[in-house]
Amino acid sequence: MSRPRITRRGLAAAAGAIGFGAAAAALVPSAQARRTALPGAVPGFPKGFRWGTATSAYQIEGAAGEDGRGLSIWDTFADMPGKIVDGSNARRSVDHYHRYKEDVQLMKGLGAKTYRFSIAWPRVFPDGGKTANPKGLDFYDRLVDELLANGIEPFATLYHWDLPQLLQDRRGGWESRDTALAFADYAGHVARRLTDRVRHVFTVNELSMFVEMGYGKGSFAPGLKLPAGRRNQVRHNAVLGHGLAVQAVRAMGRAGTQVGLAENIGTAVPAIETPENIQAAERATRELNAPFLTVILEGRYTDAYLESAGADAPKFTAEDLKTVSSPIDLLGLNVYVPSHYVQASDHPSGYTAIPFPASYPRMSSSWLTISPEALYWAPRHAAKLWNAKNIYITENGTASSDQPAADGVVYDIDRVMYLRNYLTQLQRATSEGIPVCGYFLWSLLDNFEWADGYATRFGLIHVDYATQKRTPKLSAAFYREVIARNALA
Ligand code: FCB
Repeated sequence: MSRPRITRRGLAAAAGAIGFGAAAAALVPSAQARRTALPGAVPGFPKGFRWGTATSAYQIEGAAGEDGRGLSIWDTFADMPGKIVDGSNARRSVDHYHRYKEDVQLMKGLGAKTYRFSIAWPRVFPDGGKTANPKGLDFYDRLVDELLANGIEPFATLYHWDLPQLLQDRRGGWESRDTALAFADYAGHVARRLTDRVRHVFTVNELSMFVEMGYGKGSFAPGLKLPAGRRNQVRHNAVLGHGLAVQAVRAMGRAGTQVGLAENIGTAVPAIETPENIQAAERATRELNAPFLTVILEGRYTDAYLESAGADAPKFTAEDLKTVSSPIDLLGLNVYVPSHYVQASDHPSGYTAIPFPASYPRMSSSWLTISPEALYWAPRHAAKLWNAKNIYITENGTASSDQPAADGVVYDIDRVMYLRNYLTQLQRATSEGIPVCGYFLWSLLDNFEWADGYATRFGLIHVDYATQKRTPKLSAAFYREVIARNALA
C-alpha cells in the first residue's frame, strides 16, 4: 500500500477529517457536497449498518515485556531463524499499546462506529494457568473507555493466535484438552471484567488458519507439522475450546452479551450461477468447513469428513459435540478469497473444484486472488446452510505495495479497486436480505503480518516503522466516504 505526507493539521481540520493526511482529506467531499451530490443511484447498505476496522493484539500492540505480559508462542516462533520472511518480530510493532489514543482518533477520522480488536491472553494469564496478572486487563479497560468516549463500539476477540508459551511447553498447546479448559477460564475472566462495556465478544479468530498453518504446515506458530490423527485432534480441541468459551462468557459476562466466533470460512463460489452450480457450491462449502464451522453450527461432523479421516478421525464424545455447538448470537466471517470456484458434477460429492489458472489475477500477495464474489457467497452460504443470523464480515481487505509518491501520499488505488469490487458484492448480499449487520476492514494500520513480518502492508493508515508516524492512505479517504454515505463511493 502507500502513504501520504503534506502538512496534515490545518487542511485535515478544514476538511473535518481528524488525523487525515491533507491530500487524502481533500479528496473527501464536504458534508454539504455530500448531501447535494449523493447520487440516488448508488446502491446503499441497510440503515444502521456497522462499519469498522479490525486489528489483533500481537500484530499491533508491541510492549511485549510490559506490565507483566508473559511470552506467547509467536514471540518464540518469530525468534526461530527463517520463520519470518524479513527476520522481524512484534516486540515493538506499531506500538499501539502506547499510542492507542492517537489510533482511536484515526478511527474517528474515518467515521467508523465500531472497532474489532483482540485481547492478548499472555497479558492476562502470563503463564497460561489460573494466576491472573493484576495489570493484565488494565490496557483493555483504558482502550474500551477511550473507544466509547469517542462513540466507537468495541467488539473483542479473545484469541487471535497468541497462545501463552507455557501452555505450549507444558501441555502441547491445542494438542491438549487442557488448553481448551484454560481458554474457558481466561474467557470467563475477561467477560467478568469487560462485558459491562464490551457487548460483543468473538471467542476465536480463524480456527482453520491457526490449526492448519500452525499444526499442519508449520508456517505459523507453534511451527508443527503433525500427522493427520494428531492434527484432527487439535482441530477438535480447538472447536471444543470455542464452545467452552461461549459457555464461560455466558456464565461470567453481563446478561445479553452477544457471543460468537470469527472464522475464515472456506467458500465455494459457483463458476457460473446456475441452480445446479449453486447447489454444488453449497455442498462444497459445507464440506470445506466440516471440522470447524460445520460442526459448530450443526453439532456433528459430516459423514464425508469422518469417512475420509478413517482411523485418524478425532476422538470425541456426544457431550463434546453439545459443547462445541453451544448456541451463538453472532457469526463473524473473515473473507478474502474463495477456496474454489466449483461446478456441479456426477461425482458422489456433487461438485468439482476448478483450479485457479496461472493467469488468474492477484493482489500483491500471491494468495490474494481477486475474487469479489466471495463476499457475496460467504454470507449467503452461511445463511442458507446454517440459518445464520447476525452475520458480521469480521475481516476483509488487501495487501498492496504501498509506495509513497513524491508528495508523500500513498495512492493505493489498487486497494480502492479491490474494496470497491468486494463491497459491491457485499451490497448485493444485503440488498437480497442476507443478514449481514456490519463490516470490519482489515486493517486499521499497517502491522506485523505474521510470517510475512512487515514486508506486507494491509493498513488503511500507513505506518513509518522507524518513526511510528501514521499517515492515512488514499483508501482511508475512500472508506471514509463509503461510511459517510452508507453506500459505495
Ligand atoms: C487473516 C488474519 C489476520 C491477518 C489477515 C491478513 O487471516 O486473521 O490476522 O493476517 O489475514
